[in-house]
Amino acid sequence: MQSRTVPLLQVALDYISLPPAIAMALQVAPYVDVIEIGTPLCKAAGIEAVQAIREVIPDKLILADLKTPDVGGLEAQMAFEAGADMMTVIGGAPMATVESALKVAQEMGKEMLMELTGVRDIIARATEWKQVGVGRMVYHRGWDEQAFAREWTEDDKRIIRQLIDMGFKVTVTGGITVELLPFFQDLDVSIIIAGRAIHQAPDPPAAALELRSTIARLWEASQADVSWRGGNARINTSVADVAAKAIRWGVSEMGLLLTVDGRACPGCDSPQRLCKGTITTIHCPGGIRVDDLVQGIAHIFGQSRAFGRASDDSFFLDPAQLTDLSPSRIVDLLLATGNALRQLGYSVDVNAGVGVANRLLGTL
Ligand code: 5RP
Repeated sequence: MQSRTVPLLQVALDYISLPPAIAMALQVAPYVDVIEIGTPLCKAAGIEAVQAIREVIPDKLILADLKTPDVGGLEAQMAFEAGADMMTVIGGAPMATVESALKVAQEMGKEMLMELTGVRDIIARATEWKQVGVGRMVYHRGWDEQAFAREWTEDDKRIIRQLIDMGFKVTVTGGITVELLPFFQDLDVSIIIAGRAIHQAPDPPAAALELRSTIARLWEASQADVSWRGGNARINTSVADVAAKAIRWGVSEMGLLLTVDGRACPGCDSPQRLCKGTITTIHCPGGIRVDDLVQGIAHIFGQSRAFGRASDDSFFLDPAQLTDLSPSRIVDLLLATGNALRQLGYSVDVNAGVGVANRLLGTL
């Protein structure tokens, strides 16, 4: 079995002024992997937008979507010096611009991505870019194209697959929503960008969380299914679903308050099951700071996207984010949560939680 990497989620901040972009970045940063300073924001607020967002979000990857058409070296340098980890050059730029930006990126240990909006002969251009050392590209259904009813098609998938086969790391973007994710599921894309689906959603953090967990489930569950089922068709639900159920029941049994009580779950075969999204959100017991708890779990379990801050008074456990979905690793996540709480002075029945989780995980 070839192992697949779960694509990163990038939020595109396509704003025309800085304050709402900063506010949105702060809201959604815990639920995304990369923050994009969108092209309109780069134009409206300048390179200072990169600097400002880097100041408030020190620990996430930042991409400056400059779509540079000329002066590649200088624009790359400006973006990277302002705190970006990645910047984009537009696909129609001359080779000299591509090479200049790439050289700066390589010298500074950063990444330059080719933006494919408007490029017609993608594979021919990609062959040239490959020769000079370009490694990443952004496959894009542009806003205007989308407004002119351009849909994602099998043709797009064929080209994306070809680029991946040529060795490129490919980002996909352009009106991507949760509903569209399964369309890309069989492609080993590196990054998925969502802009409007997050910043125009009624609840942007929830929208980002849903996108991220769906990506994890779609890309990771298929891998886990193969490794755990071993060709045995006995289980119809994904391992991620069983893991989520074990986590819900486990934390519930420990006496913690779920935002939805997992004990009410009718089971994996029911369409009303609770763990479709696989994320469990738990109220942080009174007197304990969410950040301290998350830090405590990280100290015991190690850094992982499988847990984190959900709000000022709640945290989440999302086993679908684990690269190893073995029962012992899922139980480790529960143990780390219980023990971190104990270390912070809160009493939980860790054994009861682990007991019920083990019982459920025994079906794997
Ligand atoms: C526009 C862009 C956008 O950032 C990109 O299309 C993502 O935004 P959305 O998900 O809203 O389409 O690069 O040129």
